Amino acid sequence: MSASSGSIAIIGAGSVGAAIAYSLLLRQVVADIILVDINHEYCQAQVEDLSDATFLSNVRIRQGTAEDARNADIIIISAGAKQKPGETRIGLIDRNIKVLESVTKSLQPIRSDAILLIVANPVDILTFYAQRLSGLPRNQVIGSGTMLDSIRLTGILAKKLKVSDSSIHAFVIGEHGDSQYVAWSSATVHGRPLLKALPLTKTEREEIATTTRMKADSIIKVKGFTSYGVAAVAARMCEAIIFDHRKILPLSHWQEDLGCCLSLPAVLGRKGISPFQVDLDETEQQFLVQSAQALRLIIKENDQ
Ligand code: LAC
Repeated sequence: MSASSGSIAIIGAGSVGAAIAYSLLLRQVVADIILVDINHEYCQAQVEDLSDATFLSNVRIRQGTAEDARNADIIIISAGAKQKPGETRIGLIDRNIKVLESVTKSLQPIRSDAILLIVANPVDILTFYAQRLSGLPRNQVIGSGTMLDSIRLTGILAKKLKVSDSSIHAFVIGEHGDSQYVAWSSATVHGRPLLKALPLTKTEREEIATTTRMKADSIIKVKGFTSYGVAAVAARMCEAIIFDHRKILPLSHWQEDLGCCLSLPAVLGRKGISPFQVDLDETEQQFLVQSAQALRLIIKENDQ
């Protein structure tokens, strides 16, 4: 695969930003990657380190400014504080909204067809504010959301069923955080209802959902942060956008009927995200509404 002529800017050159750059570089998604960070010296060191890996591809990587970033096809926002062990994603809200405000301001005037990808946490809340602050149409501002949780879930189920991850379609919906929920009713293995192929008791389903939800915490407890999973998710999102794959992915995006951003499967392509109708059972629907209520309350409190 040769890289497309497009460019992707990554704002925030910490462990997540650098891992995203590395994933994009290895997968040759675009010819140009621009890394932006307020700490220029650190950013340059990340660029130097990453440039030693470019012999594997024809990708160029350089340090850039917000002015460079605003002309990129995709701008990824990974800047912000990370969870400390035991801290929830929501706990980052005050610090990371401030970072987002300054980043979105520095990106003005932003290219009108740019896609803004949010990976910093709390991702659903930040996606909502990025839509408000960037001035871009809402379908062009997307959060990585529960795609990572869905991958974690699929990994567990694939192991139990002894099939490849790609043979399973299963989604975590709602918040990328504590109020997320597994959409068991729509999960399938090669088209067969998952719960037929793998009859799980309620307790087993709850255990799987908890392991999925807590995976980031258990990693953070030991190594202090997560980076590779979300980086691979960001790279896959960028591929879907740049090559207009119109892939259906569970991503955080504006929900008109729920009044917030949260994750439901949707179609991702060059023009951004568009809704995809999913059938949820009554319990899943209730959990989704609760997840939305929790997120709207946080936004309301923050706006006061
Ligand atoms: C995680 C972080 C990205 O779940 O929220 O790994």
